[in-house]
Formats: sequence, structure tokens, C-alpha cells
Amino acid sequence: MLVQCLYASRAVGPIDDALLQAVLEPSRHRNTAEGITGLLCHTEDVFLQILEGGRSEVSRLLRRIMCDERHRDVTLLVFDEVSERAFSDWSMGQVSLDTVNPGRLLRFSAHHKLNPFEGRGHMMLAMLLDLRAHGGIVSR
Ligand SMILES: Cc1cc2nc3c(=O)[nH]c(=O)nc-3n(C[C@H](O)[C@H](O)[C@H](O)COP(=O)(O)O)c2cc1C
Repeated sequence: MLVQCLYASRAVGPIDDALLQAVLEPSRHRNTAEGITGLLCHTEDVFLQILEGGRSEVSRLLRRIMCDERHRDVTLLVFDEVSERAFSDWSMGQVSLDTVNPGRLLRFSAHHKLNPFEGRGHMMLAMLLDLRAHGGIVSR
């Protein structure tokens, strides 16, 4: 059973290169071993992450992520059964939303400043699929 899960969270400190590397490097190894794929998007203080994989593997990872003290307010936006992965090429891709054309993000947001906590979860999901389709993912 494949599932796709999307959550938003607030970083406790600034999201800089050191934090991203500390999160992403071990994650990519672990995700490969666990059959997890996905995308980690961020602004300067908010994470938006999609996780895909087996239901038990994603649920287990989500429990670990919710206890991680590097962020807070982990808010589940989508948890769906899916028939295929959308990010199968990425053990965990990464996108800084601050580098994306604001007009592209505004298509999926009520305000210029994106607030994933207030919008519809499936709209946020559509935004990530749009980023994938238009090549906004900067690393694997
Ligand atoms: C924003 C964010 C995203 C994360 N993404 C992943 C991930 O995709 N895969 C992963 O294994 N750990 C991820 N982690 C790290 C986990 O929260 C956790 O630290 C890691 O899985 C090790 O868990 P453990 O110390 O309980 O073994 C992420 C952490 C944060 C803050």
C-alpha cells in the first residue's frame, strides 16, 4: 500500500544551509533504505515536506519527524493512499520556495506570502506537483 503524506512545520531556528544539510544528508540514506521518496520545500522559517512510500514506513517516519526538536507545529495537510509516486526520482528533493517565481506560488495561494498552515492541503500538494513539472527541484 503506497501513501503520500504532506505536512507543514515551523523551524525553531533559521533554515540555513547547515540545517538543511544536517537534515537532508542522513535522510537521503535512510529514505533509500526504507523506500521513501519525496520533497522538502522551505522558506526561511517554514518546512513543507511530502513523503511517499509504504504506509507503515511513512507512518513510522512521520512519528520520528513529529518528535524532532528542530521544528514545531508539525501539521498534517494530506495523508492519502495513492496508486503511484510523484517523486520517485528523489530520495528527498529540495526546493527553496524563496527562489521560486512568486507568480507561480500565487496560483496556489490566497496571499503573496505563502501560508501552508491556512490553505487547503490539496492545493499545497498541487503546488509541489507543479514545481516538479517545471523543474524547480534543485537537488536529489
Ligand atoms: C524538516 C525535517 C524533515 C525530515 N525529513 C526526514 C526524512 O525524509 N527522512 C528521515 O529519515 N528523517 C527525516 N528527518 C529527521 C527525523 O526527524 C529524525 O531525526 C531521523 O529520522 C532520525 O530519527 P531517530 O533519531 O529517532 O532515529 C527530518 C527532520 C526534519 C526537521
